[in-house]
Amino acid sequence: MTRKLGLLALFIASAAVLAAAQPNGSAIFKEHCTSCHGDDGKGIATIGTPDFTSAKIQNSLTDQEIITTITDGRKGTIMPAWKGMLSGGEIAAVASYVRSLGPTNGPGKAGPQGQPKAVASHAANLQRASY
Ligand code: HEC
Repeated sequence: MTRKLGLLALFIASAAVLAAAQPNGSAIFKEHCTSCHGDDGKGIATIGTPDFTSAKIQNSLTDQEIITTITDGRKGTIMPAWKGMLSGGEIAAVASYVRSLGPTNGPGKAGPQGQPKAVASHAANLQRASY
């Protein structure tokens, strides 16, 4: 019985260590970014921050641009450089959180041309069938 409890405690402890090792993009965003980007990432007009939930904004940004902007900031604007404040892993985590706010992210949603993937491949099949 005590042995089982010991194993359980060990399991819980290692789960906690794993959780701590994985930077939480959502938590980082809430802590450092919402003051300028809004609680929901929709941006604040008076500050001039973009709406991360907009497909247009998301499509205008590559993953690399998001990471570079977070790392180095945006010269001439108040967007700060997070290099030295956040680790590379934390920057990657918050960058993918920014991505996740967009409507085009994830399977089954709009592909690069703004067309859902399933529809695009269905259209390709139809085209092939008509030859
Ligand atoms: C002091 C205010 C401020 C804080 C804090 C801030 N930002 Fe920004 N951010 C801005 C502004 C202003 C812009 C728009 C810059 C421009 O006009 O190009 C911006 C732009 C961006 C962009 C580029 C968007 C685009 O359309 O090009 C990304 C990505 C971004 N911020 C992510 C973050 C993340 C992630 C954090 C938190 C780690 C953060 N920002 C914290 C003010 C801030």
